[in-house]
Amino acid sequence: MITLEGVRKDYGGEVTIGPVDLEIPRGGVTALVGPNGAGKSTLLTMVGRLLGLDAGTIEVAGYDVTRTPSKDLAKVVSVLRQENHFVTRLTVRQLVAFGRFPHSRGRLTAADEEFVSRSIDFLDLTDLEHRYLDQLSGGQRQRAYVAMVLCQDTEYVLLDEPLNNLDMRHSVQMMKHLRRAAAELDRTIVIVLHDINFAGHYADHICAVKDGTVVEFGPPERIMTDEVLTKVFDTPVTVVEGPNGPLAVYY
Ligand SMILES: Nc1ncnc2c1ncn2[C@@H]1O[C@H](COP(=O)(O)OP(=O)(O)OP(=O)(O)O)[C@@H](O)[C@H]1O
Ligand SMILES: [Mg+2]
Repeated sequence: MITLEGVRKDYGGEVTIGPVDLEIPRGGVTALVGPNGAGKSTLLTMVGRLLGLDAGTIEVAGYDVTRTPSKDLAKVVSVLRQENHFVTRLTVRQLVAFGRFPHSRGRLTAADEEFVSRSIDFLDLTDLEHRYLDQLSGGQRQRAYVAMVLCQDTEYVLLDEPLNNLDMRHSVQMMKHLRRAAAELDRTIVIVLHDINFAGHYADHICAVKDGTVVEFGPPERIMTDEVLTKVFDTPVTVVEGPNGPLAVYY
């Protein structure tokens, strides 16, 4: 479980995120949705201990994120940030292998190498594993970063807009893969998504964030309504019954 109590981030000026009280249950996929600037990345990076809090507490699996040493937390929670992806002369395989660092401390065992290969394969990157990151398309590079995070093999996985730049097939593959990891490997996945229909279809819980606070939290059927989506996104949304469940129409 991830627990936020009275969590606040003050960016100075008028921008304050929080206070947020939230419990994200263990297991399954929880989607964070909401408009640009709502505070999704701020919340996710605070949970992933990459950004300090100005008030409150966050616990992941019972570990207080501000007090637990990073090297211990790195075995429990992994984070894909929205940006800051470093593009250097690293190959895909070298990048993905970084995910094993909390376990291997830089000395990869055969089991680590196996993990690296499996993550690369999961993300459909085997043919590209020896390419440098700056020789990839945007979507291929995005998949390489996700492979690195999954390779960390943590119980809690936080992903900020992992579908950025992905085509239809790879977006669907990624969501199916995350669902499978949640179901079969007992992972807890928290994912920021802008495509509300992906959230509605693949998430077990949806957390809607607006103006720095959580405005709704619940199963998809509670969030996928005209009223909630129109309010959260400040734009007219109509939910219709599609072939695979509710579909939000907003254009
Ligand atoms: N380092 C910073 N300094 C000052 N303000 C910031 C900083 N980072 C974010 N903010 C502000 O905090 C608010 C929340 O930003 P955040 O990145 O969490 O939003 P978001 O929901 O992830 O948006 P998006 O969908 O655009 O990624 C925004 O108003 C943003 O301008
Ligand atoms: Mg963001």
